[in-house]
Amino acid sequence: MLRHRLLSELDLRLKNLKGSEDFKNGLKERFIANSSDIEDLYNDLYGHLPNSKKLFSQLLDQLFSAYSERSVELKTRDKDKLKEDYWFCSEQLTGMSLYVDRFAGKLPDVEKKLDYIEELGVNFLHLMPLFESPKDASDGGYAVSDFKKVDERFGNLKDLQHLGTQMRSKGMYLMLDIILNHTSDRHEWAQKAKAGEKKYQDFYYCYPDRSIPDLMEYHMPEVFPESAPGNFTFIHEMNQWVMSVFHSYQWDLNFKNPEVLVAMMDNIYFYANLGVDILRIDAPAFIWKEQGTSCQGLPNAHKLLQLIKLLVEVPAPGMAILGEAIVGPHQILEYFGKGRFTAHQCDFAYNATQMATQWDALATGDTRVMREAMKVVDLKPLGTSWINYSRCHDDIGLGYDDYMIANAGKDPNLHRKYLKDYYSGSFSGSPSKGALFGANPKNNDARISGSLASLCGLESALESNDEKGIKTSIDKLTLMQAQSFFSGGIPLIFYGDELGTTNDYSYLEDPSKSYDNRWMHRPIIDWDQASKRSNINSIEGVVFERHQRLIRIRKENKAFADHKNTHWLTLNSPAICSFIRTSEDQSVFCFLNYSNETQQIPESVFNNLGKGPHQLKELWSNQLMEFKSPLNYFDIKPYQFYILSNKI
Ligand code: GLC
Repeated sequence: MLRHRLLSELDLRLKNLKGSEDFKNGLKERFIANSSDIEDLYNDLYGHLPNSKKLFSQLLDQLFSAYSERSVELKTRDKDKLKEDYWFCSEQLTGMSLYVDRFAGKLPDVEKKLDYIEELGVNFLHLMPLFESPKDASDGGYAVSDFKKVDERFGNLKDLQHLGTQMRSKGMYLMLDIILNHTSDRHEWAQKAKAGEKKYQDFYYCYPDRSIPDLMEYHMPEVFPESAPGNFTFIHEMNQWVMSVFHSYQWDLNFKNPEVLVAMMDNIYFYANLGVDILRIDAPAFIWKEQGTSCQGLPNAHKLLQLIKLLVEVPAPGMAILGEAIVGPHQILEYFGKGRFTAHQCDFAYNATQMATQWDALATGDTRVMREAMKVVDLKPLGTSWINYSRCHDDIGLGYDDYMIANAGKDPNLHRKYLKDYYSGSFSGSPSKGALFGANPKNNDARISGSLASLCGLESALESNDEKGIKTSIDKLTLMQAQSFFSGGIPLIFYGDELGTTNDYSYLEDPSKSYDNRWMHRPIIDWDQASKRSNINSIEGVVFERHQRLIRIRKENKAFADHKNTHWLTLNSPAICSFIRTSEDQSVFCFLNYSNETQQIPESVFNNLGKGPHQLKELWSNQLMEFKSPLNYFDIKPYQFYILSNKI
């Protein structure tokens, strides 16, 4: 009945829309395909509320206005993307995540650095949050006080639009965040709530006393136990407790109220029409809360994400969605959608499990925990992809399951303790220089901070002038990156890592940052030092060239596109991570040695190519290698990797 009404309204809406028939037909098709699901999901979440019908028609109005405000340039880009076989799974994409100010200065300065980005080979930028956020309480921009105003620190909206246009003209892609779960306590909605406006108090989870917060606290983990213990903050101005899962100045939005959804969709459409190619939904695990639960990853959080995906897909089908859920391997799969929403929820998720188990393997010289975890990670559906990374702006959590560690023959508690000690400098044999983040004595949990280079041992090797240590740390760093480049998904370099930047301790001098040691791995780029990259004998030169090579190899081989074409192998040596990537006319065998000892790989691994001998091209060294399967072995040195293609 309702569907009938929606479709008859559609013709009327389309008649009133300006624009070419061709574009409008696309919109019509997408609306017809998705409208029942949009309505069902919305009703499941909000149908019981008295104002639900009114707000639903507001959502639809917004959807159609978003479409009519979308520029012809972006509509054409959407159409081109849809012609490709999942544009975002392409081997052509390599990303970099950067802070505008710490990387370059202001937005126009980033524009001036596009040559550098191109020199590296990167064509997809994640600009860390740049909308207005209070300087003294910003959580790196993740506490937004105005979702549409670019923070003066970075420039203005025109600068952002200009940068976006420049990037598109160079064939680059843009990712921005929508910080969906919370606002800054200085956001207009929070200010109005503080001033006593009931409408805006209902935008947040507000409680007159501790009775409900106390009950909820019992089941809710703490995200920042050291710097922001507890999940609620008392607000004197309104004499109420407000839910603040992250920092006390980040108030959780109440998505049980459909007005919040309407308000946030308005911001999402604003970003879509700025030309965002991938929208990073920050902290999606947290967007729905229920008393008596952990308030993370709840079924309605997934429903809400499905609804948002469809509301975006109809008017802006070229904007893919990344769900920034840093959760265990089983839970992450849910973000790609289940049942009839399989591959129709988030297009991307962070491959946090691969990242964390890589660090596990690097510290132990043993990939068995990774192998266990990959059995689950590998279940990702076709038509979705990973953001692969060795480091990002956040801490490293060891969030894989205990049974995976136990199946690898280790004691989960002792093993995690070893990893934390290894990377935080309390294990004497370790060259790593990092620190524990979010240590929680109540449950013994802790994550790890530190830059890629420092965790790989470069900082300590430089301090002790240890030439061999420097070389080993660069090999480790390259090995870590190689896995994210070749295992399937878009590799996202964290700015500075392409130069081997070590920890930056200047954050300790800044009271707005000193409480959060994640700032040690968020460097301010020293461009004089970066210019050393042209000297191939410098550390910067070696590390930069290696990144260029990784990017080039990825772009030149279609087998690296992510079409569910990664087959993991189990070799006898636990030190070796190995997988095969395939495309119609190519097989690429990847072997990565995570240990400090030379390992042997049996040539019989190539049996599936038919009988030997085989000539394969090693893409990293660009040399032909001959294998005489099945009788022999070949050597792989400590922290070395081979990328062997059967296409010569
Ligand atoms: C995400 C961000 C992190 C931030 C948190 C709260 O996890 O990556 O940096 O602290 O959300 O917004």
